[in-house]
Amino acid sequence: MRVLSGIKPTGDLHLGNYLGAVKQWVAMQEDIQASGGETMYFIADLHGLTEWIDPARMTANTIEMTATLIAAGIDPARSIIFNQARVPAHAELAWLLNNVARVGWLNRMTQFKDKAGKNREGASVGLYDYPVLMAADVLLYNATHVPVGEDQKQHLELTRDIATKFNTDYGTELFTLPEPLVSKAAPRIMSLRDANAKMSKSNPSEQSLVKLIDSDETIADKFRKAKTDPDLLPATMAELAERPEARNLLTIFAALSDRAPDDVLGDYAGKGFGQFKPALADLAVAKLGPIRDEMVRLLNDRGAIDAILRDGAERAAALAAPTLHGAQTAMGLLV
Ligand code: TYM
Repeated sequence: MRVLSGIKPTGDLHLGNYLGAVKQWVAMQEDIQASGGETMYFIADLHGLTEWIDPARMTANTIEMTATLIAAGIDPARSIIFNQARVPAHAELAWLLNNVARVGWLNRMTQFKDKAGKNREGASVGLYDYPVLMAADVLLYNATHVPVGEDQKQHLELTRDIATKFNTDYGTELFTLPEPLVSKAAPRIMSLRDANAKMSKSNPSEQSLVKLIDSDETIADKFRKAKTDPDLLPATMAELAERPEARNLLTIFAALSDRAPDDVLGDYAGKGFGQFKPALADLAVAKLGPIRDEMVRLLNDRGAIDAILRDGAERAAALAAPTLHGAQTAMGLLV
């Protein structure tokens, strides 16, 4: 088994990333290692370029995101941690796969449609091609399992289509078809201001997302001010079907405390948000505060963080080389 996943360094790590992806990444390290497999996690800096980002911010975010992952429990001694740009095989394989992926397939990608919005003509070519680079990330290492939030599932289905077409067109079994592992507890954490929008690094409203670098006071304040309704809490999640804000906060509480949402409701049924929100704020501060403190400590030595990325890139490059070579020769390239 080889587990691989990535995160863009386009902003600070937030609760959606943490509960939807990173918490799973941490949990998988032990089991996968025990079964002789590998866990690989990377900063998707090349994907970060698909929408404008200030170069100095890109550099700082790459280091800060790495520190946050380590503080959250990704252990460089157990997992390979690296940034994509330091392993050129990602971009090289993406070019090869560009000739396998079809325009019609990319046209169906909902993330591109959402991000490009009405201004499709003005979107970068990179934003359109994003899913092909993502396929290269996964196929390069023959990853068997990819832990992600629900929003990335479509990209992984495309990855499987690209792998299948490559294997068929070139008469090879080079690429392994990866399985997406979508978090059951927190597949899609929503904005704290608008439960119809997902919590996202690109949301301009600071109140909409809890960041892992937020102070205890800020975390508590954001939960206290989270949008809710005036009704009391019921006994089961099924009764919250029409109350998206309430459902989102319950999901967050349950995922942070590793409990089933109905079990949490057992404690709050018949009570209002006046009681629930302070408890959620306390829980979030207790779980996230120590991660932030450790991240701040790690950032005192940015050189050490970069050394971890360099070492990870060397190990990743060694694993990537045979697959890239296999793809090149399957296509008849003289390399
Ligand atoms: P990114 O940086 O947008 O998101 C990183 C991870 O966080 C998950 N996520 C969420 N989960 C639940 N609720 C939310 N509100 C929420 N917001 C984000 C994402 O699903 C993701 O798992 N394209 C990837 C980066 C990537 C990648 C890869 C992942 C590049 N190459 C190869 C896996 C394999 C992304 O969306 O990153």
